Amino acid sequence: MEAETQGDWVAMVTARAPTNIAVIKYWGKRNQKLILPINSSISITLNPHDLSATTTVAVSPSFTADRLWLNGKEVSIEGDRYQNCLREIRSRATEVTDPKTSRIITKKDWESLHVHIVSKNNFPTAAGLASSAAGFACLVYALAQLMGVRERYKGEISSIARIGSGSACRSLYGGFVEWDMGKDDDGKDSIAIQLAEEKHWEDLVVIIAVVSSRRKETSSTLGMQDSVNTSKLLLHRAKEIVPKVMVEMRKAIKERDFATFARICCADSNQFHATCLDTSPPIFYLNDTSKRIISMVERWNKAEGTPQAAYTFDAGPNAVLFAPDKAKACELLSRLLFYFPPASDKKISSYVVGDVDMLAFKE
Ligand code: DP6
Repeated sequence: MEAETQGDWVAMVTARAPTNIAVIKYWGKRNQKLILPINSSISITLNPHDLSATTTVAVSPSFTADRLWLNGKEVSIEGDRYQNCLREIRSRATEVTDPKTSRIITKKDWESLHVHIVSKNNFPTAAGLASSAAGFACLVYALAQLMGVRERYKGEISSIARIGSGSACRSLYGGFVEWDMGKDDDGKDSIAIQLAEEKHWEDLVVIIAVVSSRRKETSSTLGMQDSVNTSKLLLHRAKEIVPKVMVEMRKAIKERDFATFARICCADSNQFHATCLDTSPPIFYLNDTSKRIISMVERWNKAEGTPQAAYTFDAGPNAVLFAPDKAKACELLSRLLFYFPPASDKKISSYVVGDVDMLAFKE
């Protein structure tokens, strides 16, 4: 006979969320606590089997505290970002019937139940690729599923992921996603909106060239705050330029117009890094290899008279490259290998994860 005591049940949910690559960058907050941006942005969500986070959230009456494990190591859950996400999800929790045990967990139960969170990235953290977007999107989505949170308006869950990390809100949707900066002070309308689904532009290939696996010296959070405080160029970009290029980029995506997509994507990346240089003290995210990759793509595009490939760089030296189809992607890869040959004493760590080819370059 099995006598169930108060503490011997567990309810859990597992979710997976991919990371996203911004082609119109988010850089700068107008409200730091709520993570409200100074401009809207657009990104491409990678496939779930590519660079993604997998998170299991569990509750049990036997858990005595909220706890978090990232990539196998317990880390503190006391940070504001985790606490804010947990609070927002808990405040929206509803009565849930656990599908496995048919146990009913009431709205009141959620107030006292503690969560254990286990999250893992499927890409090496050493690759120096941002993981907070996938991590917070996955955490918030899994918690929302566990606690029966239903959106009262479209995009509400993305607005909770946003307070974990701004770019995370865009990972709630697949395909091409816009983060509308919103107008409200409470952040309710600062949400992610899917512009086109995953299958819309299937030919487009994403290649990530890992230039350095070192941790970046200036985090996005601190870097963008310095830019907001000191760069005049950033203000001009956010107010005058981004609103215009958002219109052009939406259209290019809708029409699968690679030439326009490539032109705007490269220009936006360069402008973002120009605002970093315009920051005091200046922030340098690109290194010499990054700059050589830019030149390689620019020279190729110029020689052909029309864009063959596009590049974008986030807050680090790693290149994210786009090709209009598989044939061009192969050409791009061979060019990369030609111009950046692996050092003879080092084995090039090149591997393919789904559609994303990752190449590690020596600095
Ligand atoms: C350069 O979303 O990491 O990748 O909101 O402070 O967590 P916080 O910043 P984060 O910034 C991402 C900046 C970027 C551009 C982008 O993804 O749009």
